[in-house]
Amino acid sequence: MNDKTGELSGRGHIEIDGLTKTYASDAGDITALEGIDFDIAPREFLGIVGPSGCGKSTLLRCVGGLIAPSVGEVRIGGDVVTEPDPRIGYVFQQAVLLPWRRVLDNVMLPFEITGRPTGEDRAKALEVLEMVGLSEYVNHRPGELSGGMQQRVSVARALAVEPSILLMDEPFGALDAQTRDSMNVELLRIWHESQTTVVFVTHDIGEALFLSDRVMVMSVRPGRVQDVIDVDLPRPRTFSEVEADERFWTLRQRIREQLN
Ligand SMILES: Nc1ncnc2c1ncn2[C@@H]1O[C@H](COP(=O)(O)OP(=O)(O)OP(=O)(O)O)[C@@H](O)[C@H]1O
Ligand SMILES: [Mg+2]
Repeated sequence: MNDKTGELSGRGHIEIDGLTKTYASDAGDITALEGIDFDIAPREFLGIVGPSGCGKSTLLRCVGGLIAPSVGEVRIGGDVVTEPDPRIGYVFQQAVLLPWRRVLDNVMLPFEITGRPTGEDRAKALEVLEMVGLSEYVNHRPGELSGGMQQRVSVARALAVEPSILLMDEPFGALDAQTRDSMNVELLRIWHESQTTVVFVTHDIGEALFLSDRVMVMSVRPGRVQDVIDVDLPRPRTFSEVEADERFWTLRQRIREQLN
């Protein structure tokens, strides 16, 4: 493994320490997050749910180094996060693709940012595109793809560098139910086979429980950690097994009550 793909194990440890984020705005300051202390273990799958506007995206942006905390810090593998790290995969709610570039070249972008892409990088890009079911579209432009297909390109791009951390902000919210289910299953397979730590924001409690080792429930703004739920459902998981399990419904109810 070359060093572009990241020395994995320690890099997957995320420490959030006394994190407060206040945005300055013309209408007055908005405190989005307040006093978040949280540790995410290497290789953990953490789900995050919480009411709209409670600071979930803000938290992810701080972890990804896209914005700076007002107070406190985030450490990854022991190092304070100060800027975006190309070894962290980030999937936003809407696909963010360069419209003039072919699908394959969009997926190659992270390799270009970290250096000169090799033949091996190109093979990896083609492999992840196959994984998300887009082998036939590598030469198309994003505008020629459906919204769901564009989002799958974003997922492929995030996976291409074999990230030590994958940050996903409601990545499948815009997909139809069937595509979403298959992306969830695929994501668990990829996570299981890789060493990746995943932080996954969603509005969907069932999705959070199906995917996660733990689910963080956030309070209304300013976002705080209201509850942390251990999802003691056996793996590997299938939808039918999970839905047949009493514990799934108990946990779902517990989260529901907190969100109301
Ligand atoms: N760039 C910004 N400038 C000012 N305020 C912001 C900015 N980004 C977010 N906020 C505010 O911070 C709060 C948290 O926003 P954030 O996007 O993190 O919430 P969220 O939990 O992701 O919501 P949703 O579930 O709707 O995506 C909101 O009140 C929002 O108005
Ligand atoms: Mg958000």
